[in-house]
Formats: sequence, structure tokens, C-alpha cells
Amino acid sequence: MLRPYSIPSSRAVYNDRNAMTDERIFSSRPRNEEATLEATLRPRRLDEYIGQERVKGNLRIAIAAALKRGEPLDHVLLYGPPGLGKTTLACILANEMGVQARITSGPAIERPGDLAAILTNLEAHDVLFIDEVHRLSRAVEEILYPAMEDFALDLVIGKGPGARSVRLNLPRFTLIGATTRYAMMSPPLRDRFGSVYRLDYYDQGAIGQIVERAALVLGVAIDDEGVKEIARRSRGTPRVANRLLRRVRDYAEVMAAGAITGGAAREALGRLDIDGLGLDEVDHKILRAIIEKFRGGPVGIDTIAASISEEADTIEDVYEPYLIQLGFLDRTPRGREATRRAYEHLGIEPQGKAASPQRPLFDA
Ligand code: ADE
Repeated sequence: MLRPYSIPSSRAVYNDRNAMTDERIFSSRPRNEEATLEATLRPRRLDEYIGQERVKGNLRIAIAAALKRGEPLDHVLLYGPPGLGKTTLACILANEMGVQARITSGPAIERPGDLAAILTNLEAHDVLFIDEVHRLSRAVEEILYPAMEDFALDLVIGKGPGARSVRLNLPRFTLIGATTRYAMMSPPLRDRFGSVYRLDYYDQGAIGQIVERAALVLGVAIDDEGVKEIARRSRGTPRVANRLLRRVRDYAEVMAAGAITGGAAREALGRLDIDGLGLDEVDHKILRAIIEKFRGGPVGIDTIAASISEEADTIEDVYEPYLIQLGFLDRTPRGREATRRAYEHLGIEPQGKAASPQRPLFDA
């Protein structure tokens, strides 16, 4: 058979993820040892997946309908901040459908041939999970369109006037795309997903349940206060909760006879410079830069990034969404502004706009 692309023989691999060695608590990606542990802690059934009730409810119906018809699930797009369980949900969907999940990511699929190899290795009804789907190149996206729409692979054979196109049939599969940047996806790609779900930060009750479940899986004793202390600082994010739990477990094993109490959790997390709301050193740097260097803003994201030697993408993806959710940061057309609450949290006297009394929502 003629192969116009160089097609690697290996199956989908998540190569960029394994290369990460980021040591920060709130980094957006799982680290090496963590990827394995995350897989251990990961719920396998939809009923074990805590929170995201609306998304779960819709997916339950979609799964039941697809199983009833004997068809694969429609393509699903999951978006939202990092660490909320998009990969977990994709694996659960595959499991509930009784099929295999192939896991890869946008940056890992460098050439059209890489994607062609993955697609031709799928089995009927398989789930193909592409994380960071907004980072697929244009050329790779072009291969994906007919694959998603018609389950077909269009191969161009030869070059110049003699080139011809051959269509190969693919097994019917489900693409699950995940992204932290919905707006950066090309509209033709967005339009090809049958359903789109936004994952939101978890409330503290749900994060508490996730901490309890993870502690049970890890075999570590934890009391209610310990659960609360960790949940409070987890930024509504299961990946962060699991990370903090492991750091507190280390501390408890060495300093507190193995059991996680409220006191042990507070002490351990204090040593990691994580404050009572779960803000770390980078969050503090961002807020202080806006307040102290730019008089509270508005200031552009690139300027903030340069002033604290951090990547603008990391600030936008990982830090800013939670600061906005806390009401510490406003995103305005002229840039980011620190709010009165941010000043108060840092113990700084509000200045400029943040100093003026807050307007009531409604006039009396
Ligand atoms: N681990 C990570 N996310 C989870 C969730 N939503 N429910 C249970 N365990 C999890």
C-alpha cells in the first residue's frame, strides 16, 4: 500500500506530558510519578465520579442512548481549567461504553501521518482522547474533519498534476477532545463535536468528598478537619486536592504518627506557602505586581508576565481563572485590575478604583 505520510508504527503516546518536571503545586500538568498515581486514584465509573452533576446527567443519557442503538457515542468536547478531571471523564466514558480509550494530545500529534496512524489503529467504537485539542496543527485538523464526519481518511497519493485522492474507511469511533482554551479552537473543529461540556471548579463539599475518597484509596487516615483544611486550599481542583493530600500525608507520616488531622494539614500546607484560600507564591506575585508596580491596574497580561518572569499562558490558564473566581481580579478590555478584595486579602490599603466604596448592586 502506498503511504503518502510517514506513518509511525507505535500507538498513541502522550510524549510531551511525560517530559514535564514542573515542581509547582498548581502547575497545570500532572508530573511523572503523579500521572501514575492519578491513574490509581481515578474513578472508573460515572457513579464514582464526584461533582459536575449537570455534565454527568447529560452524559448518562448520551451513553444509555448510544448503547441502546448499538452505536458509538457522539464526539464530545470537554473544556475548562486544568486539573478538573477531563481525562478522567474520557476514560470513564470509554469504560461505560465497554471500549478502549486511546489517549494522546494535540502537541504529540506533530504530523498528519501521526494522526493517520492513530486512526487506522482504532477499533470499532473506541474512544480517542485528544487533550489540548486546540494545539493541533492546521494540517492535522484537516485529516480530522473527514475522520470525525464520515469516518474516512483521505489520503493524497503522489504529487503535482498526477496526484490523486484515495478514501479509506475508518472504524466508527468517538473523539473526546479536551481544552483549557475553547476560544483558541478553530470554529470548524468546534462545530464537529456533537456535544460540548464545560467543567467548572468544584465546590468545597465535592472537593472534600474527593479528598476522602483519595485518602481511602491511599490508605491514609484523615479526620473531618483534615479534609476541610485540604479542601479549602485546593482551588476547587481535584488534581490540586490530590497533590496537597500527598504532601500532607508525607508530613503526617513523619511528624504526626500517620493520621491527617486539621492541625497536621494546616502545619504542612503552611510550610508549603499555601495560604488559607489556596493561593501560592505565584498568585501572590501576580496580585502584588498589579497592585505595587501598576497601581492596581488595568495592566496587560504580557506586562504582568514579564514583570514576574512567568509565562503569560500559564498565568492565563492556571492562575488567573481562580483569582477571577475568587473575585480578586477583574478582566477589563484595558487589562487586569486588582479588586478591593485582593487588597484586603494581602493586607494592603486599597488605592485608586479599589479604594472607592463599592456600589450596591441595586439602588435602594
Ligand atoms: N479524582 C479526580 N477527579 C475526581 C472526581 N470528579 N471524582 C472522584 N475522584 C476524582
